[in-house]
Amino acid sequence: MKRLKMIVVNTPEEAGARAADVFEAVIAAKPECVLGLATGTTPLPLYRELIAREKAGTIRFAEVRTVNLDEYKGLQPNHPQSYRRFMQEHLFDHVSIKTENTCVPCGLPENPDAMCAAYEDTIERWGGIDLQLLSIGHDGHVGFNEPEDTFPMYTHEVQLTEMTREANKRFFDSIDEVPTAAFTMGIGTIMKARKIVMIITGADKADITYAAFCGPVTPKVPASILQFHPDVTVICDKAAAAKL
Ligand code: GLP
Repeated sequence: MKRLKMIVVNTPEEAGARAADVFEAVIAAKPECVLGLATGTTPLPLYRELIAREKAGTIRFAEVRTVNLDEYKGLQPNHPQSYRRFMQEHLFDHVSIKTENTCVPCGLPENPDAMCAAYEDTIERWGGIDLQLLSIGHDGHVGFNEPEDTFPMYTHEVQLTEMTREANKRFFDSIDEVPTAAFTMGIGTIMKARKIVMIITGADKADITYAAFCGPVTPKVPASILQFHPDVTVICDKAAAAKL
């Protein structure tokens, strides 16, 4: 079993470039690989780098398949703050990936339980996630798996904590517009990925980085479960690694 690998770099851009190296290697080894993708500010330098590398000819997305971690409940796919729209704008529209090969949970399902079960089925039918990208919330959430008493296994609906809604309100006109619920892959879904890369940047993430990787494994800090995964690379900038 490999040990958790921690890489500390100087800037968020460097973190993105190091993560892009892992993506490049996985795609080169398996052009039709399944990538688990994330939203938020943290992955942006990585997505810019992936777009640049496809333009430069070192990566090819034509056969790649993707599954996103999560989506807000109640937002249409074309809503400016939906995660589907985020992925189109920051990655999919700029690379050769086929739309039918990209999955983001539906924010407005007629039957939420059926949608969540179908999401898990798609991942399984595609042969599982080869490489899962993660970042971390200030309370240790991954995807939208918030601190709880147990680790949720499968894709499910969650109520967002006030801390998460506060952190994400910067993208909306006011806190009232931030959805109160979301759909997210479960911790079990994430832990089944063959390989995981977590990017953490910024001084505001230093405390939770310490708690997740130097503290006990507990569902109160969902990211701490990664200590038990056999192939995790954590790429931090100096600011996020300050307390390690
Ligand atoms: C959201 C997403 C998470 C992400 C987190 C951190 O809540 N659902 O997947 O990790 O934000 O975002 P940021 O990278 O902007 O700090």
